[in-house]
Amino acid sequence: MKKENPDELFEKEVIVEDEGEKLFREEKEEVVAKEEKKKPPSTKPKEAWKVLVVDDEEDVHSVTRMALKGFIFQDRKIEFLDTYSARESQKVIRKNPDIAVILLDVVMETNNAGLELVKYIRDKAGNHFTQIILRTGYPGQAPEREVIVSYEINDYKTKTELTAFKLFTVVLASLRAYDSVMKLESLRQGLEEKVRERTAEIAQKNIKLEQQKKKILTANEELNVQKEELQSTLENLKQTQSQLVQSEKMASVGQLTAGIAHEINNPVTFISGNVKPLIRDIKDIFAIINEYDSIVHKKNLQEKFKKVKYLKDKLDFSLISKEINNLLKGINEGANRTTEIVKGLRTFSRLDEDVLKIVDIHEGLDSTLILLRNEYKNRIEIIKEYGDIPHIECYPGKLNQVFMNILSNSIDAIEDKGAITIKTSKSKEYLQLSIKDTGKGMSEKVKSKVFEPFFTTKDVGKGTGLGLSIVLGIIEKHKGKIEVKSEIGEGTEFIISLPLQQA
Ligand SMILES: Nc1ncnc2c1ncn2[C@@H]1O[C@H](COP(=O)(O)OP(=O)(O)OP(=O)(O)O)[C@@H](O)[C@H]1O
Ligand SMILES: [Mg+2]
Repeated sequence: MKKENPDELFEKEVIVEDEGEKLFREEKEEVVAKEEKKKPPSTKPKEAWKVLVVDDEEDVHSVTRMALKGFIFQDRKIEFLDTYSARESQKVIRKNPDIAVILLDVVMETNNAGLELVKYIRDKAGNHFTQIILRTGYPGQAPEREVIVSYEINDYKTKTELTAFKLFTVVLASLRAYDSVMKLESLRQGLEEKVRERTAEIAQKNIKLEQQKKKILTANEELNVQKEELQSTLENLKQTQSQLVQSEKMASVGQLTAGIAHEINNPVTFISGNVKPLIRDIKDIFAIINEYDSIVHKKNLQEKFKKVKYLKDKLDFSLISKEINNLLKGINEGANRTTEIVKGLRTFSRLDEDVLKIVDIHEGLDSTLILLRNEYKNRIEIIKEYGDIPHIECYPGKLNQVFMNILSNSIDAIEDKGAITIKTSKSKEYLQLSIKDTGKGMSEKVKSKVFEPFFTTKDVGKGTGLGLSIVLGIIEKHKGKIEVKSEIGEGTEFIISLPLQQA
């Protein structure tokens, strides 16, 4: 076995045998790295590895070619590029960014032209993949340790050390390193591409999400608007419902009272029509009886009339006559009262009247009081402080409803005995009406809610909570105002002002 001689650098006939396996042969037989031999031959000729030889000595170029003749790694041959100065190399390197290995001399046009070229390749050209093997003939000029540390090179060899076999090993190792680096690089690029794609996808999805978010927000806003609309519709419905319930209630109360009034009217007319003639007749009868008496005294017919006298005494005729007078007085008074009630009912049952009329408010108040008499008599004193007020233009039936509701509440608020003061007065274009009770009063919270439909503090079945909301509606219909003053234990006052005329 021939052994390489380190001094015989780039000997023309280098044959290196390792355990019978020939790596270099002079014959044109291709030398293939062991691991690559087993691979099936590829159908397409693969691109060659570019190896740049930079050296100012022509011999070095030819010797290198010779040493690597027939070299194949991973089915790929070597394509040699040759330059003789650092300057010239720059151009070639720029043109061929895919150079796999550079075998680089140090001392050329300058003492460190090779090292400058390394800087150029790494820093200016930005190429960090090409494997640079420094091959110096003057190790003193560029000491290995210093160069390896300061320059981004991959290997450092002295020309004497680099025999043909060593060169083969070095180039093979460098190509393998380059191949790995490039594979890593392509993996990295692939990954980067994937990351870019994923980022773009995520950005796209983000945009879609953003759009969906916007849509949801808009939908939410719309829902809110609809909710508000529904809320106000509900309020309106409540209001309308309360008005309907109340007008229904008042309409039936109106009909009922009108009916009762009508029914009572006939018998009452009958009574009051008959009482007067009856009184007159009884008077006549008494006159006749008196006449009898005087005859009895004068004509001495006492004996004959003894029986009559006996009866008169027995029946206590003087008491009967007194009693008859009293009874007649009572009947008369009852008839008058009934007439008054009927009048009250009639006034009150003008509820369905929905036309403006000029009326006396006092009449409406009085008729309402008559209807409520049973609720307050013997318990509550009604103090009327009626002022000198003109008749006003209004819906009389509706105003009676107002008086009815407020007075009912006042009566309800007085638990035992008390008083209700009704005061009327006039100021400028307005009529003022105050209804004040000595009842239990109300808390601030209750006071703030009294005009709300269905607000009641009364037991179930006792109050609907509609009274004052209706009152408010009616006062507003008259373009008037209503105000409430109340304190717990101090009583309550409702103050209403109504325009004298409905313009
Ligand atoms: N004069 C008053 N004194 C004390 N509280 C009052 C007075 N007037 C009204 N209120 C309070 O206001 C509430 C609402 O009155 P509103 O007349 O609207 O309904 P209600 O009387 O409860 O029921 P209804 O529909 O039968 O009238 C009453 O439940 C009561 O708590
Ligand atoms: Mg009420």
